[in-house]
Amino acid sequence: MKVLTKFMAIGLLGAAALTAQAQTPAAAPAAAAAAATPAATPTPAQIRLWASACMTCHGTLGRAQPGMESLAGMNREDMTRKMINFKTGRAPATIMHHIARGYSDEQIAAISGYFAALPR
Ligand code: HEC
Repeated sequence: MKVLTKFMAIGLLGAAALTAQAQTPAAAPAAAAAAATPAATPTPAQIRLWASACMTCHGTLGRAQPGMESLAGMNREDMTRKMINFKTGRAPATIMHHIARGYSDEQIAAISGYFAALPR
């Protein structure tokens, strides 16, 4: 019985915490505005984070295992063009058309610049 009461108390605390989170309206519009208008100049940390999503398949720091294209040292314009072609469906792809659609053209240019600067 005592144990059950403890669990119920934890449950109530959890519910209270959720309610408290839901009641912070001030942060929500600011976050939405930030998402709608991405910073004109992304920070190096932001670009690194975007690029890290590519490394699962294209290798750590863009150096791929055999059978996958390395991105490290790829020409920036080539890579941007390839990504835009995936995004628009102009280039055939098994997966890159989905991935490329997740990024704005500006993000693609920034990610391409990041990989272009990495040693092969
Ligand atoms: C889930 C695995 C996966 C992830 C994650 C991934 N790619 Fe790819 N990528 C592929 C595959 C597979 C191809 C070959 C085209 C296809 O079948 O979609 C490819 C092809 C490419 C090519 C063309 C290479 C060439 O020269 O032909 C580029 C450029 C590229 N990816 C960039 C990226 C970038 C930038 C990211 C991160 C935003 C990324 N990829 C994330 C799997 C992935």
